[in-house]
Formats: sequence, C-alpha cells, structure tokens
Amino acid sequence: MATQQTILVTGGAGYIGSHGVLALQQAGFDVLIYDNLSYGHKELVQPLGVELVVGHTGDRQKLDQLFATRNIAAVMHFAAFIAVGESVQKPDIYYQNNVVGTLTLLEAMLAAGIKKFVFSSTCAVYGMPKEIPMTESHPIDPLSPYAASKRMVEQILADFDQAYGFKSVIFRYFNASGADPQGRLGEDHNPETHLIPLALLTALKQRPQLSVFGTDYDTLDGTALRDYIHVCDLAIAHVLGLQYLLEGGESNIFNLGNGNGFSVRQVIEVAKAVTGLDIPYQLCPRRPGDAPILVGSSAKAREILGWNPQYPDLHTIIDHAWQWHQRRHGDYKKSNKI
Ligand SMILES: NC(=O)c1ccc[n+]([C@@H]2O[C@H](COP(=O)([O-])OP(=O)(O)OC[C@H]3O[C@@H](n4cnc5c(N)ncnc54)[C@H](O)[C@@H]3O)[C@@H](O)[C@H]2O)c1
Repeated sequence: MATQQTILVTGGAGYIGSHGVLALQQAGFDVLIYDNLSYGHKELVQPLGVELVVGHTGDRQKLDQLFATRNIAAVMHFAAFIAVGESVQKPDIYYQNNVVGTLTLLEAMLAAGIKKFVFSSTCAVYGMPKEIPMTESHPIDPLSPYAASKRMVEQILADFDQAYGFKSVIFRYFNASGADPQGRLGEDHNPETHLIPLALLTALKQRPQLSVFGTDYDTLDGTALRDYIHVCDLAIAHVLGLQYLLEGGESNIFNLGNGNGFSVRQVIEVAKAVTGLDIPYQLCPRRPGDAPILVGSSAKAREILGWNPQYPDLHTIIDHAWQWHQRRHGDYKKSNKI
C-alpha cells in the first residue's frame, strides 16, 4: 500500500462515534472524523489528535472533494439524529437527516468506488418483542420515525449490495451506556433522554428528579427491562466489523447487547450505590410505544466477529459513566450549558 488507508467516521464527534474513533486509533487505523457538530463535541475529540472535517452527510460536493483527495478505505457511519420522541414530532427532519443524508453519503461513496460501510442501526427496528432474547431474525416493525429511518437505511444497504456489490455491516445496538474507562470521553447528549446519564445528572443535582415511566409491566419490579451495553464494547465491535469487511466479508447484520435485562429500578439502585448519593424519582404512567422488555442475543456477533464484551457488569458500566459525569459536570458549569 503506497499511502496508509483512512477510515472516515461520520458522527465521530458524538458519544458512540468518538469511542469508535478511539478504538480505531488503538487498532492502528488512520481516522478522519466527518461531523457537522449539530450534536457533537469538538473539544472532546480534539485531544485525540484526529482531524475533524466539519460537514453534513447531505453535502455531496464536500464529500466528493473529500473522497477525491483522501485515500479512504471504508466509512463508519454513526451520524444521525437519535431522539425517538422528537422523531414523532418532527418526522421530516429525521427522514431528511437520517435517510436522505445517508443516501447522499452512499452515492458519494459509490461514485468514488468506496464500497465498505459500517452502520449504526438500533434494536428499535424490531418494535415490540415477540421473543426474548431478540435475535437478528426477529420480525421487523419500527414504531417511530427514528426507528423507521434506520430500517430504511438497512433496506437501502441490502439493495446497494444486490445492485453494486456494496458491502455493509449493520449493527443493531441495544442501550449504549458507560464511558471510556480513562475518562477521556463519555455521554453528553443535549437534551439527554437516556436513563443512566439522567440518573447521574440527578445525583449531581443537575436535575430535580428522575421520571420512571411505567410501573405495572410484567417484570420483576414492574419497571421496564433494558439491555445495557458498554460503549467501549460497541466500539470494539465496530473495529471487528470493519476488519471483517476489509478481509472480504459479506454484508451482515449483528445485534450488539449483553443479553441481560436490568429494570429501571435496578439501574437507579446501582447508580445510588456507585455514587453514594440520593437519586429522587417520580413514578409516571407508561409511555406509548415503550416495550416492557428489550434484551438481545448477540451470539451471532460473538460467533462470526469473535466479539467478546469486556464490561458486561452494570456496576462497572455505571461507574465508568459516573467518573465521566463528575469530570464533565465541571466543564458544564464553566460553559453554562446546564
Ligand atoms: N445512544 C444509543 O443508545 C444508540 C442506540 C442505538 C443506535 N444508536 C445510533 O448510534 C449512532 C450514534 O449515536 P450517539 O448516541 O453517539 O449520538 P450523538 O448525537 O452523540 O452522535 C451523533 C453525531 O452525529 C452528528 N451528526 C448528526 N447528523 C449529522 C449529519 N447529517 N452530518 C454530519 N454529522 C451529523 C452529530 O453532530 C453527533 O456528533 C446514531 O446513528 C444512533 O442512531 C445509538
């Protein structure tokens, strides 16, 4: 190889993408971040020493220029809008960003002859669970425009493979959580909608209380069960998925989860134990569209990619998130973000 090949990481300034960048660097890849900073954090990725191109996935001209001037071997595509509730209120924005933006990126890749793609999808494409744990062959029934936007891209990728030999690895994540154990990166969504950061922000008194939606599910304590997967384990899976494609692997779809369900109450209890602080919460009615239990089987990723999550323990996941939140909280105060 004359020059080292580069991996383009869209959404690399966001929560999961930035951990993906770190994992790629650690695996020896040259990385280039492409992010429009709509939700990303430039100051978090700058210390990683990775070049950041500020751009939108829908900007065909910018992508063409980038692909023409850089030796890009594959694209890891994390960029998307991610708030399920907002997608119900503003479906046009979600389809535009997550589907049209991705299609433009794929067209630019095709034009440049780049045909390897790792895609962030979600377990939300399955809809209400018909069996637990959910496998990749579970029926598909997205219940929100967000989930539908991911499913549409999955379909586009299947069609691109059939028509153009475009190879993709699709990862359907369960609940991404935790943070870089060395405290360099972590979760910072604004607005935040995920349980663990909300619990930790409540412990830090950045929020008055937590809302627990649904207390009458058929689960061990009546609250909903979710499968929490450490963000560094997700990141490693992406490197494995990329290596699989670079070695000539066929297009494939993999769940990424731990296969264990924890209830909302259990998460709050572990967060209390980790922080040593009170986390007040109010009990609220179920939210429409929320499944009682979402737990995935990742046997396929283990088998085919050799993936083996390093941090399956909920206590460790929350501890890493807590180290990060304490550190980030200081920065928050300085920048008056909350
Ligand atoms: N967080 C989860 O639990 C979870 C679960 C399942 C799937 N996912 C998927 O994982 C991916 C990453 O999620 P996250 O939690 O890191 O979100 P995030 O908001 O932290 O990161 C997304 C990044 O993409 C960027 N971005 C958004 N639209 C863009 C566009 N059109 N062009 C360029 N950049 C753009 C944002 O600025 C941000 O940096 C998303 O595709 C999401 O749908 C996340």
